[in-house]
Amino acid sequence: MTARAAVVCGLGQWLPARAVTNDELAGELDTSDAWIRSRTGIGARHVLEDGLGTSDLAVEAGARALKSASGLAVDAVVLATTTPDHPCPATAPRVAARLGLGPVPAFDVAAVCTGFLYGLATAAGLIAAGSADAVLVIGADAFSRILDPEDRSTRAIFGDGAGAVVVRAGTPDEPGALGPVQLGADGSADDLIQVRSGGSRDPFRATTARQADPYFRMAGRTVFRRAVEAMAESSQRALDRAGWSVGDVDVLVAHQANLRIVHALADWMGLDRERCAVHLDRVGNTSAASVPLALADAVAGGGLRPGHRVLMTAFGGGLTWGACTLTWPVVEPH
Ligand code: UT7
Repeated sequence: MTARAAVVCGLGQWLPARAVTNDELAGELDTSDAWIRSRTGIGARHVLEDGLGTSDLAVEAGARALKSASGLAVDAVVLATTTPDHPCPATAPRVAARLGLGPVPAFDVAAVCTGFLYGLATAAGLIAAGSADAVLVIGADAFSRILDPEDRSTRAIFGDGAGAVVVRAGTPDEPGALGPVQLGADGSADDLIQVRSGGSRDPFRATTARQADPYFRMAGRTVFRRAVEAMAESSQRALDRAGWSVGDVDVLVAHQANLRIVHALADWMGLDRERCAVHLDRVGNTSAASVPLALADAVAGGGLRPGHRVLMTAFGGGLTWGACTLTWPVVEPH
């Protein structure tokens, strides 16, 4: 019996209206457009308006992905996010309810910037096991809510947004079928990307004796190196599983953390830099939304067309990483 594959059949994206330029940041912090552009490739990022939360982003992107999938009924929702609306409960059930999906199972996956690939792997597992026939996978994050307003190294990079796909049961040889998602993690380095306070180890109510730190912290330079190594290694494993060589890849959709990371990865792999999807110049690092947003942007810009062979890869806190191949199907992003 042929295994049931997860096949991409819908793609949606959403960005908050407000874009913050580098010059605007430079008005607040000791930074400059020249520094941010030359060190990261980022020109602007979007910020969610006050009073809204990650579920608002996720609902917008999810609704568009469902529309792109011609309204196909989904029987599960997986939301990849590190910035849930509340510490408890998960945000996915609220998203499913607001999308009018009825009592379908809905849960969050927390793998920071690798969240979307972890979400895809989870959806593919639900489909392969026969637990679901179609799954809405959303990557949504509102990092503006956890950044230290005074930290120029993270404020320059991160932005808010959401991207989503619908995957349905199909066969491994059809366009849109996900190859096996190659995932990895190294929790011994969990302190390289972390929000230290507010969880069970350091709850806010227990921090009277010492200073709480509610903000996202990242050891940028070490993370940079680990990101390139891990994405290169998992990408090679994904290519091996697909029986592809590097030269077969038409479009590399790597996590949009930093243009220098994307290019270092391409160089390491021996892939032409021209084949890299680049969206971060307009949106920065949108964490779990980064890969689906870059996919949608590449399709809209004409750089990603049906039949193209795509390699997706991401890296994030945890540490976590992953990669996956697919041949792009006929899918119009909404
Ligand atoms: O999404 C999960 C994965 N995340 C990533 O992959 C991010 C990986 N890291 C990076 O992208 C880069 O490390 C950063 C963009 C965060 C920083 O770039 P860098 O070239 O690695 O700089 P650095 O951290 O080594 O810092 C060099 C200098 C420092 O100043 P001093 O200590 O040398 O005086 C920083 O304070 O650059 C300074 N700096 C800035 N200067 C102006 C850091 N951010 C800024 C800024 N504007 N926005």
